[in-house]
Amino acid sequence: MCGIVGYCGPRAAAPILVEGLKRLEYRGYDSAGISVFHDDALNVVKRAGKINDLRAAVPDQFPGSVGIGHTRWATHGEVNDANAHPHLDDTGRIAIVHNGIIENFQTLKDRLESEGHQFASDTDSEVVAHLVSSLYDGDLEQAVKRAITLVKGTYGIVAMHLDEPDRLVGARNGSPLVLGIGENEMFLASDVTAIIAHTKQVIYVEDGEVVSINSSSYSTTDLRDNPIEKHVDVIGWELEEIEKAGYSHYMEKEIFEQPESITRATQGRLDFENATGHLGGLNMTNRELLEVERVKVIAAGTSYHAGMVAAYVLEHLARIPASAELASEVRYRNPIVERNSLYFAVSQSGETADTLYAMRELQRKGARVLGICNVVGSTIPRESDGGVYIHSGPEIAVASTKAFTSQMTAFYAFALVVARMRNLSYSDGLRFLQALDSVPEKIGRILDDITPIIALAKKYARAENFLFLGRGINYPVALEGALKLKEISYIHAEGFSAAEIKHGPIALINDQTPSFFLVPDDSLRDKVVTSMKEVKARGGPVIALAVEGDVEVGRIADDVVFVPSIDELFYPFLMVVPTQIFAYYCALERGCNVDQPRNLAKSVTVE
Ligand code: AGP
Repeated sequence: MCGIVGYCGPRAAAPILVEGLKRLEYRGYDSAGISVFHDDALNVVKRAGKINDLRAAVPDQFPGSVGIGHTRWATHGEVNDANAHPHLDDTGRIAIVHNGIIENFQTLKDRLESEGHQFASDTDSEVVAHLVSSLYDGDLEQAVKRAITLVKGTYGIVAMHLDEPDRLVGARNGSPLVLGIGENEMFLASDVTAIIAHTKQVIYVEDGEVVSINSSSYSTTDLRDNPIEKHVDVIGWELEEIEKAGYSHYMEKEIFEQPESITRATQGRLDFENATGHLGGLNMTNRELLEVERVKVIAAGTSYHAGMVAAYVLEHLARIPASAELASEVRYRNPIVERNSLYFAVSQSGETADTLYAMRELQRKGARVLGICNVVGSTIPRESDGGVYIHSGPEIAVASTKAFTSQMTAFYAFALVVARMRNLSYSDGLRFLQALDSVPEKIGRILDDITPIIALAKKYARAENFLFLGRGINYPVALEGALKLKEISYIHAEGFSAAEIKHGPIALINDQTPSFFLVPDDSLRDKVVTSMKEVKARGGPVIALAVEGDVEVGRIADDVVFVPSIDELFYPFLMVVPTQIFAYYCALERGCNVDQPRNLAKSVTVE
C-alpha cells in the first residue's frame, strides 16, 4: 500500500518529505516521488525504485517549504518513473498523491480526455489531478471536494496548487490519513511513523472528511463544508521504537522483542487474585459476555492464523463454539449473523481492506465486532464495537512476527475471562494464568541460543519446496511457519495438518523437499511422530521442532531443534518463534530483502 507525506512550514520540505517516505517505505516501495512549491513552480522529482534512489535524485539545492511525497505499491500501471506519484494536471499547477484505488477511473479518464486533458501515466491516481484541475475555480479545497464526489473507490489524497502556495488539502475514504500538528508547521501522512520525528500531536482523518492545512492552522470539514470538531491524540511511543536498535533488520528486532511485547500485551490484564483476566475496551458487560454462544474471527494472513489459534483456545478452555474465517471470503458470502455471536476483526495495521470491509458488512447485518489490533487510532479499532489493542509497538517489517504472538496473547486473556465465567475453576484458571505468564521467559530461552536454527537455515535454505506440519492447536502454526518462509525467502512452502499429509501431499515428498514437523509433547505427539515416520519412509528430509528431552523424535528426524516444555495449550507461542527465526535466516542465506520482500506491502489497504 502507498505511503503519503505532506508538509507545510518554515523548514525545507524536501528532506522532511524524503525522510518521512523512508519511514513509510515498508508500506509500499516500488517507486517514490516528491513535489515542492518554489519560485512559482511545482518542482517534481519521482523515480521507480527505492527511497534511496529518490534521495539520490533530489538535488542538494531543492528549496521550498511546502510539498507532498509518495511511496508507491503499484495497483494500476507498471513500475516506472511516469507512474510514480506525485501526479500533475496538464497545466503543471496542481499536484496530488493518492493511496487507494479509483474504481471508476477509466470512465473519468475517458471524459477528461474528451475534454482535452493529456495523461502522462497509466495510473488510476492521475485522474484525480486532472479532475481537481477541471473543477478548480480558485479554491483548492472546494475543487477537491467536488472531485471526490465524482470518485468511486478508496483514497487517501493530498493535493497542492500553485495559486495557493502555502496550502495542502487532504481527503480520505478507506485509506488512512493523519494530520500532524507541529510548532508553526503541519504535516499530513498515511501513517504516524512518517511524522513522529516532528510531532506526537495527531488528528486521525475519518472517511468523508477533508482537511486543509497551512503552516500555522488546519480545518476539518465534511463534503458539505460543515466544520468537524476533531480530537487531538498524542502518539504513545517513541521514535527509537521504529529504529532498528542495533539489529540488522526490523524483522530480527521484532522477533527478539517478543518476550517484551507479549509482556506488554498482558500488562494490567491478568488478575491472579481471581484467576481471570481484565480486558478494558470490550464494551460488553459480564452478562453480555455470558450470553455469547459462538465466536467468529475474521482476518487475513498472519492475523488469520492467530484467529485460528484463538478458536482452539476458546473451544478448549471456554467450551464456546469458535472459528476463524478469511475476511475476504466472509465479505462476499452474504454471511449469516446468528444471535449471540461475537465477532473479532484481527489486524496488526488496523487498515487491511479485506478485514475492514468484512467488518463493515457484518456490522451492517447487526453483528457485534471487536477489534484485536496494534496500530492505535487505525480504522478498524475506530470503527469496531470495542476491542483490545495488543501494544506490540510499531511492527515495521512486512513479515509479521511480534504482532502474531501478541494477538494470540490477547485472545488467551479473553478466553480466560469467558472461561472463568463458565466452567473453568479457580485452580485451573490459576494454572492457565501461570502458563501464560511463563511464556515470555520460555521464548527468551529459545532466543538465547538460536545457533541450531541458524544451522538449519544454512543447511536447507536452497530447498525450493518445503512442507510445514502440525496438529491441533499447532496446525495454524504450521500454516504461519509456511507463510513466513514463503513471504521472505520466496521458497514455496505449504502448511498442512500433519494427519492430512497422507491424503495427497505425501506425493510431494522427495529428497529435495524437507518437511518441518511441529512435535510438542501434547496429546497428539504420537500421531505426529507417525506422520514423521511416513515421510522418512519415503526419503523426505525431516526437521522436527520438539520438546527438550524428547530423544525419540531426535532419533527419527534428520535435524531437531528443542524448545522448553509448557502446558500444551501454549505451544503455539514456543513453536512459532523458531519458524520465524528459520525463515529469517533462510532469507538471509538467499540474499532476499528481509524487511521489504518483493511484491509485498505491510498493510494491504486495497482489496
Ligand atoms: C504477514 O507476515 C503478512 N505480512 C500478511 O499476511 C499480514 O498478516 C496480512 O496482510 C494482514 O495484515 P494485518 O494484520 O495488518 O491486517
